[in-house]
Amino acid sequence: MTSFELFQQIPRMEIAPLQTPVHRCGRIETVVPGMPALYVKHDDYIGPLVWGNKLRKLEYVFAEARRLGADTLITCGGLQSNHARTTAHAALRFGFRVILVLNGVPPARPTGNLLIDFKIGAEVHFVSTREERQEKMEKLADDQRALGHKVLVIPLGASDEVGLPGFIRAMGELKQQQQQLGIKFDYIFHPSSSGGTQSGLEVGKRLFEIDPRIIGISADTSERELKEKIVTISTPVMKHLKMDPMFDEDQLSVDDRFIGEGYGIPTAASLEAEKLFSEQEGILVDHFYTAKAASAIIHYAREGFFKPDDRVLFWHTGGTISLFQ
Ligand SMILES: Cc1ncc(COP(=O)(O)O)c(C=O)c1O
Repeated sequence: MTSFELFQQIPRMEIAPLQTPVHRCGRIETVVPGMPALYVKHDDYIGPLVWGNKLRKLEYVFAEARRLGADTLITCGGLQSNHARTTAHAALRFGFRVILVLNGVPPARPTGNLLIDFKIGAEVHFVSTREERQEKMEKLADDQRALGHKVLVIPLGASDEVGLPGFIRAMGELKQQQQQLGIKFDYIFHPSSSGGTQSGLEVGKRLFEIDPRIIGISADTSERELKEKIVTISTPVMKHLKMDPMFDEDQLSVDDRFIGEGYGIPTAASLEAEKLFSEQEGILVDHFYTAKAASAIIHYAREGFFKPDDRVLFWHTGGTISLFQ
């Protein structure tokens, strides 16, 4: 069986139409010196509540949960986790119970994703730090198993070999769109954090034989740590798909210079990117993820990184709900 046939056999549950549009950002091109042809891939258009990139992974995670006969899903994130809320939200339709472990101090007045978690009746447990999440998830899983439930614990961001095929498939989608548009992208910029999105794109570009350079703009993690994660998540999937050769950290591009003071804290550059993208193109970006990736594209353009005939794709991964706080 070919790698592609093996990939096609991975069970998937269709949650939403995932052919997200690609649009040209012609106005930004004219106002940012050094900006070549810039396009955006709108994963922020997935679903009415800006579900973003998470749904791509969940199509495979839910299929795995079904295969295992799980009735309860446990996952984690920060208070404003897009992944946690999207998991709880999408799971309702398929009859899974979802328990969330969120780190942070619950505010007196919940907003954004946390407000939705409560509105949809998700069971939420709070812990103080990121480090406590895993242990708490395991404890809750044991409790649920003792009550007779069949549990699947989904890691942060669904960034493991179960969720990763979602972004492999996304690369197949992009290949088709390149053919429809009659162009090839030289670069893809996207926000990167737990490594699942970038792993899927990297494996996908090899599986579907397209060749953009993928540059992950870190939201919170050092370049070295994120590259390690990407290799760790990708390797078992590539082995399963009988893809050879594997890639190593030297073949990956991760840029951690745009984090600023930390996860979700705006920088002068992300504020400028927010203003440019919203006022020039009507594209909303948030300061956890997409504004920082957008600020990187502007920075690369200004420092003369691109050639005039390059084509750059900004993969907008969603998450805009965190703007409404
Ligand atoms: C909107 C958004 N973009 C990008 C990411 C990063 O994706 P990943 O965790 O797969 O690296 C996340 C989640 O972490 C997210 O919510």
